[in-house]
Amino acid sequence: MLILGIETSCDDTGLALASDRAILAERLASQADVHSLFGGVVPEIASREHLRMLAPLFAGVLRDAGASAREITDVAVARGPGLLGSLLVGLSLAKGLSLATGARLIGVDHLAAHLLAPGIDEELRFPAIGLLASGGHTHLYRIDSPVAFRLLGRTLDDAAGEAFDKAAKLFNLPYPGGRFIDLLGALAAPDPKLFPRPYLANQNLDFSFSGLKTAVAAYVAAHPGLRRPRQSAPDEIMEHPEAFADLSLACSSLNYAVEQTLRVKTERALNANPDAASLIVAGGVAANSVIRRSMTELARERGLALHLPRPSLCGDNAAMIAHMGRLLAARGLGHDLSLEVIPRGTIVPWDYLDLGARDG
Ligand code: KG4
Ligand code: ZN
Repeated sequence: MLILGIETSCDDTGLALASDRAILAERLASQADVHSLFGGVVPEIASREHLRMLAPLFAGVLRDAGASAREITDVAVARGPGLLGSLLVGLSLAKGLSLATGARLIGVDHLAAHLLAPGIDEELRFPAIGLLASGGHTHLYRIDSPVAFRLLGRTLDDAAGEAFDKAAKLFNLPYPGGRFIDLLGALAAPDPKLFPRPYLANQNLDFSFSGLKTAVAAYVAAHPGLRRPRQSAPDEIMEHPEAFADLSLACSSLNYAVEQTLRVKTERALNANPDAASLIVAGGVAANSVIRRSMTELARERGLALHLPRPSLCGDNAAMIAHMGRLLAARGLGHDLSLEVIPRGTIVPWDYLDLGARDG
């Protein structure tokens, strides 16, 4: 089996080649620099950038793996949820390749792929409670197997990553700002009272992060000196974080507010699922050092296996799409050329066809 994974759901263009045992090659092109000029992802530009990048990335992964396009047996493509125009670019490559070579087409739920990403490096234990926290989603799942996900709760408004990114924008830090909040927050202890821990006074497993953005906006309005007069460059912050030390209390307190909120709801999900064998934490926000520490401690307290992807597998990437694709392919599941893309905010349908065992 040679499986190509395609990721174009937002602003990262990714391609990966995998066998049934290993990820053979992987390339990723981030568009962060382009979108940073606008303070967020511009969908029209994202689609065009995917179109521009896919051909050279495809040549690159084939070269890295020493393979030819004709040898590809399966094409796994992120089919949503995401930006429609961006998804269509990846899906068009997948369909074109499938038509030309006869490779099997497998549409992959981008969110499920995030959650199973730690399975690239280690065997996952089920049933699992899965927390997915990214720029577009904050979802809690019960996962009984790689093909059995049940949504337990989700954000009612902003995602956790969006809370970080919008706060960073208020300070005039570059987009996406989550990693800078993480970095600068490490320079100070949090003030637990500075920002609210939103939407905890209820019994459900949903989230709401939009109030946190409002709280940070009020804080910046009261401390106008914290807002940089021009947008800082990523290198400026990475090389001289001490020059941004005045932001460290706010950043640390924001890390704390998001971490605590995710932790309380995850604990609640574990309480409601006492048979869970593991905790999976995935998505771009799973790269946050405060959240990684907290979830490590939580899993230890509960005697659970913790599946936390290495940081390079937290954000969007194509290795996770290829990995999910091979799990589906092993079960004979896939799609035909009528496969469609799914917009943000919509649950991806379970519409796999049983393609049966492979010839030969
Ligand atoms: O999974 P991802 O790459 O893309 C989506 O599918 O959304 O997640 C991106 C999000 C952004 O909001 C980004 O700011 C956030 O993950 N992020 C972080 C960190 N690294 C990335 N947030 C907090 N701390 C980090 N270290
Ligand atoms: Zn993602």
